[in-house]
Amino acid sequence: MLVSKATATSNSNIAFIKYWGNRDHALRLPVNNSISMNLDGLYSRTTVTFDPALAEDVIVLGNTVQSREASRRVVAQLDRVRQMANLAARARVDSQNNFPTGAGIASSASGFAALALAASTAAGLDLSERELSILARLGSGSASRSIPAGFVEWQMGTTADGSDSFAFSLAAPDHWALVDCIALVSVEHKAVGSTGGHALAHTSPLQEARLEDTSRRLPRCRQALLNRDFEKFAAVVEEDSTMMHAIMMTSRPPLFYWQSATLTIMQAVSDWRAGGLPACFTIDAGPNVHVLTTAEGAAEVERRLRALPGVQNVLTARPGPGAILVEG
Ligand code: DP6
Repeated sequence: MLVSKATATSNSNIAFIKYWGNRDHALRLPVNNSISMNLDGLYSRTTVTFDPALAEDVIVLGNTVQSREASRRVVAQLDRVRQMANLAARARVDSQNNFPTGAGIASSASGFAALALAASTAAGLDLSERELSILARLGSGSASRSIPAGFVEWQMGTTADGSDSFAFSLAAPDHWALVDCIALVSVEHKAVGSTGGHALAHTSPLQEARLEDTSRRLPRCRQALLNRDFEKFAAVVEEDSTMMHAIMMTSRPPLFYWQSATLTIMQAVSDWRAGGLPACFTIDAGPNVHVLTTAEGAAEVERRLRALPGVQNVLTARPGPGAILVEG
């Protein structure tokens, strides 16, 4: 086989209904559906080159060659693609994020989605969106949601092999001009990442109640999104985020991702909304706060966030595209 190469970009995403806990950890089969929005402008760009001359896979993130341990998840993805394409060649993977890694701006989502598209294309496979979403999911659950465009739902599925656990678009990026204003309070690497957290979720006695209530939150979120109803949307998004953090804080051992600045922002956002500014918060497995607002509210939300103590920077993102192949 000759050297073959492909490059893909994929955007990060922010979940409105969160993925927290797996029914099968190896296959990353979640215990509930989740809903998210891709984040325009916050992306990974990944090139995969299969090269018969390579003795082993080489994984470069940023400009740093990764250790064998750090490469493990990426190499496992390459192994899946090699098996699907019946390919033996090792690969070089070059991936760059244009945002800080490991700080609650799902870098694994954009990274594994871009990897799924670049690696499968370089291997000569022509996968459907559904197949790509499943492949990305095996690398990182939330990556399944960065394959389709815009507003996305990941259906948990029911089969044991995960063949019906994939994400699809609920609406195109131009459906609703929401803006995610991401208040960065820390860009340090977190102590316990999502993978470790998912494994602990079932140890919280509250997880069962959260899952039972999902059948109420999911359709509410979906409907509010489709109707562009910000008030209803805000209520269910904040509730879902706080419920996930209640699970985290009551897991054994417990996980506390919030810092004091996190709570300051949460309280400020509630006050702003009570005062008529469309804004609501959602927080992933880290201390940074995603403040969702409308196009009209974005400049004011950003200005107010920057004035709060502990806010180091604010990134903004609109609804973004799905994973895309880069020509040449
Ligand atoms: C809190 O997809 O990062 O951001 O499958 O282990 O890679 P792995 O976990 P990951 O989990 C995301 C958790 C979350 C909520 C969400 O994005 O739905």
